[in-house]
Amino acid sequence: MKILSIETSCDETGVSLVEAKGGLKDPSFKVISDLTISQIKLHKKYGGVFPNLAKREHSRNLVPILKKVLEQGFGISNSQFPISKQIQEKIEKILEREPELLKQFLEFIPKIKRPNIDRIAVTYGPGLEPALWVGINFAKALSLIWEIPIIPANHMEGHMTSVLIPKENKKVKFPALALLISGGHTELVLIKKWGDYKIIGRTRDDAVGECFDKTARMIGLPYPGGPEISKLAEKARIKKSIKKIDLPKPMINSPDLDFSFSGLKTSVLYYLRDNPIKNNSDKESLAKALEETITEVLISKTEKAIKKYKAKTLIIAGGVSANKFIRKSFEEKLDKEIQIFIPSIYLSTDNGLMIASAGYISELSKRKYPKEIKAQGNLSLGKE
Ligand code: KG4
Ligand code: ZN
Repeated sequence: MKILSIETSCDETGVSLVEAKGGLKDPSFKVISDLTISQIKLHKKYGGVFPNLAKREHSRNLVPILKKVLEQGFGISNSQFPISKQIQEKIEKILEREPELLKQFLEFIPKIKRPNIDRIAVTYGPGLEPALWVGINFAKALSLIWEIPIIPANHMEGHMTSVLIPKENKKVKFPALALLISGGHTELVLIKKWGDYKIIGRTRDDAVGECFDKTARMIGLPYPGGPEISKLAEKARIKKSIKKIDLPKPMINSPDLDFSFSGLKTSVLYYLRDNPIKNNSDKESLAKALEETITEVLISKTEKAIKKYKAKTLIIAGGVSANKFIRKSFEEKLDKEIQIFIPSIYLSTDNGLMIASAGYISELSKRKYPKEIKAQGNLSLGKE
């Protein structure tokens, strides 16, 4: 099955062409072409992601990205037939809130031949709704003109299934466990088989990525804070003259599998009130303490979940899984019996490929969706 996938849930615009096969028992993916454009530089100026700015950028970028992906994938040939007035009117209606996208769409898409694609997968949640709508409306317009069915894809299922994308066939053994750590989520998900999920633990307040981002801002680091904290923590580990700072490890001993990170952020705030930053070394010490505290909590809860559910594979995914220290620590500290899959750094943060894998699994799981696809900012992953 050839899938065109579209991701616009936050500050990355991603479009990919992927060939999926193997069914739910042994899904595998061949990348035909793929391109992601990050808006991070733009949002950096404002210290965070602005939904309407993200929406505008997605509207601007989607057609040029699709054009490149099609060129690199199948090549583009010209269409022999003009579109009917009726279809054009329908497209104008679908994209009426995205005038820039509509203009580019009408200038390019009707002129090219329908590509050889079986499905269009698009993220419909969770994420920023104004941003999600751009991708959804784009998919709807493409679906109409090319007569290709849409698969609504869950962004978090995308992070989770992104471990299936590399060429070497990674065989996930079930039951598997996913630790999903991103800017908006911190969840432990039990995967009984592909498409069958149960959330067994989650944050009660802030997500891990949020904790990284907010504490980074407190010490004057730019958005996104995770990679900045990680760089400083690396420096601290190389130096020897670093201050040891004890931060609380929230909920580490609680019997459940939930997390809490807002208390940790508050502790950093109090720490900074009593120990103002005087130099780079102070920043590095704090970054190291924060990264190590977060890692310890994540490992402890994940180990508890692995034991409780006798998981055979651990998947760590979501933007925060790009963190080198977290990756290394899990690999060093966890029982060698469990196989650990972490996506490549590129696949850890948002991209179009993960939406193709989520779309494929979703299509095969025969899930029921509402007839009209709508953006669902708080879309959840399976039962709780
Ligand atoms: O999955 P993602 O790209 O977007 C969401 O779906 O939220 O995750 C973004 C989050 C941000 O909070 C960012 O600071 C964090 O992932 N992140 C990191 C690293 N790279 C990205 N956190 C810690 N260390 C990193 N190297
Ligand atoms: Zn994400």
